[in-house]
Amino acid sequence: MITTKSVLAALSAAWLVALPAQASPELARKHICMGCHALDRKVVGPAWRDVAARYSGQADAVPRLAEKIQRGGKGVWGAVPMPANPKVTPEDARALAIWILMVK
Ligand code: HEC
Repeated sequence: MITTKSVLAALSAAWLVALPAQASPELARKHICMGCHALDRKVVGPAWRDVAARYSGQADAVPRLAEKIQRGGKGVWGAVPMPANPKVTPEDARALAIWILMVK
């Protein structure tokens, strides 16, 4: 029987499947980002909550951060550079950027 509840359940399942493979904490752990970052406090790099606040509403934030995640860089948050992460694929970099921008 088709109920509102079953339709909603099907929709949310489809939404989950549509998300990048394993966007999120697992991806950040897999790529060892958490050695230098935390969600809510500065470690070696900036807190991702601060990153999200800084770029919120900026149209090019996802490609910009995805590129920085892959290539590294410095000078935005201080003198300490972020090293390049050559093992991060473009898809993973994009998924990480999207996720980081949602951190509150
Ligand atoms: C060796 C330490 C280190 C590692 C490992 C590291 N970061 Fe960073 N990250 C930094 C530092 C330092 C900065 C600040 C760079 C700057 O000021 O431009 C930074 C900045 C960032 C920013 C903000 C970029 C900007 O231009 O505002 C994001 C997003 C980010 N890192 C994500 C990641 C992700 C995702 C990973 C894992 C793939 C990762 N970082 C791994 C040290 C690190």
